[in-house]
Amino acid sequence: MSAKILDGKAVAASIKEEIKAAVEALPGRKPGLAVIIVGENPASQVYVRNKVQSALYVGMNSRKIELPADVCEQRLLDEIAALNADPSVDGILVQLPLPAHIDADKVLDAILPSKDVDGFHPSNVANLWLGRPCTVPCTPKGIMRLIAESGINPAGKKAVVVGRSNIVGKPVAKLLLDANATVTIAHSRTPDLASVTREADILVVAVGKEAVVTGDMVKPGAVVIDVGMNRNAEGKLCGDVDFASASEVASAITPVPGGVGPMTIAMLLQNTLEAYNS
Ligand code: GUN
Repeated sequence: MSAKILDGKAVAASIKEEIKAAVEALPGRKPGLAVIIVGENPASQVYVRNKVQSALYVGMNSRKIELPADVCEQRLLDEIAALNADPSVDGILVQLPLPAHIDADKVLDAILPSKDVDGFHPSNVANLWLGRPCTVPCTPKGIMRLIAESGINPAGKKAVVVGRSNIVGKPVAKLLLDANATVTIAHSRTPDLASVTREADILVVAVGKEAVVTGDMVKPGAVVIDVGMNRNAEGKLCGDVDFASASEVASAITPVPGGVGPMTIAMLLQNTLEAYNS
């Protein structure tokens, strides 16, 4: 069997066109997105460039604020305070990870919840888990949208999430729960991971390590969502799932690149438009 490819790039492109049309139809001020990057992490540089360029593409105002790796925490907090107070800025995103000398929690806490387009502020996180209106983090939101656009309904299915990060694992587990899946969160301390992943009708892998999941760990007919973005020994982009073997067993699978990544950016634009409208 060969799995259907869940083409996040194509779905994201059509969402972007919808957002572009919505932005063009706005009579006055356009939505504004500010993206802060600290230091020179090459992967972060690529992500941030994509985010800013995508916002500009859909007609939003977007600016990148680059701070040196040795910037002091207070300088970053001052930058956020200025953006919080700036009425032309609807969305503020601080690219993670931050250098070790900066307290990331303090930084995320400083972003006005109404401008927190990543959905990382504790009040947005609390509201997500309480089932109240909130900003939903971009990658989990993009995963759910891609699943829905692919005609897959999680209700009544067994979902296994591998990885328990605040950015992906925990929030996507909550969204799958909201979609009436029966959800298990597995992680680095889970004994016999394969026996857990083999139960999954929907398998989301968000660990950040190459080939954590191989074809023998996938239930025949499962839907596999690969959130990983790694470089293999040859320097090639790859996910957390061994695509060659998993795609022989799964019914549907996301490629890397071109799966979850573009959906994250599309959802960032959607969150920015929602912040503008609220
Ligand atoms: N680093 C990895 N993923 C993300 C994300 O979705 N948002 C931010 N701000 N940083 C990240």
